[in-house]
Amino acid sequence: MKNKLYGNIAIDGPAGAGKSTVARLLARRLGYLYIDTGAMYRALTWKALQEGLDLADEQQLISLAEATTIRLENGPAGSIAVYCDGEDVTAAIRQESVSNSVSLVARVPGVRRRLVELQRQIAACNRVVMDGRDIGTNVLPNAPHKFFLTASLPERSRRRYNELTASGQQVDLESIREEIRRRDALDTQREVDPLRPAPGAVIIDTSTMAIEDVVARILTIIRGRD
Ligand code: DC
Repeated sequence: MKNKLYGNIAIDGPAGAGKSTVARLLARRLGYLYIDTGAMYRALTWKALQEGLDLADEQQLISLAEATTIRLENGPAGSIAVYCDGEDVTAAIRQESVSNSVSLVARVPGVRRRLVELQRQIAACNRVVMDGRDIGTNVLPNAPHKFFLTASLPERSRRRYNELTASGQQVDLESIREEIRRRDALDTQREVDPLRPAPGAVIIDTSTMAIEDVVARILTIIRGRD
């Protein structure tokens, strides 16, 4: 049976709230494109580190954003691949060095302008589930469906820890918790707080929910509005 089309879906919330897993599953279920905007900021950060740029130099970061081609590819079974100037950086952008620096890149207004433009272009010609921090508030303020996922800090840290260890990285839970705390603080210092829900967004606390239940709740809400 062909899926009905419900319009674009914006999912925001802090790191580790379950956004990407939920967004990926929703996109598969609905036959939409999944756009992980965090992966785009990560790809640019990876490139900046690769080129040895000074991350405090905003102008250099803006020039890099303007010169770099970032592409997200939805593969079979819900996988996504991230390409930076043609190079597959899917695994590289999850390294701790990138996680630790990405807030510095994402806070630069000129970098955001460029990536937001790209995100809007993708959404204009596809049905998308897009996840990030500013999707409902800024990137797609007219999206008909907006959600804000959140979870407690210990739960978000535990999920990040499981994700990283599952991908073979050696990490320590306490440092993960510190990193998330630091990243939240940095993200919140921006002009527009990216951790604030968009007006009209449905807030879901996923701390004690299974991912499948979060997906089911979102689908029920979307279908109920039809
Ligand atoms: O969701 P994530 O951890 O992959 O995001 C990486 C970083 O990018 C995080 O520090 C917040 C930032 N980000 C952002 O500023 N705006 C977005 N739309 C998505 C991510």
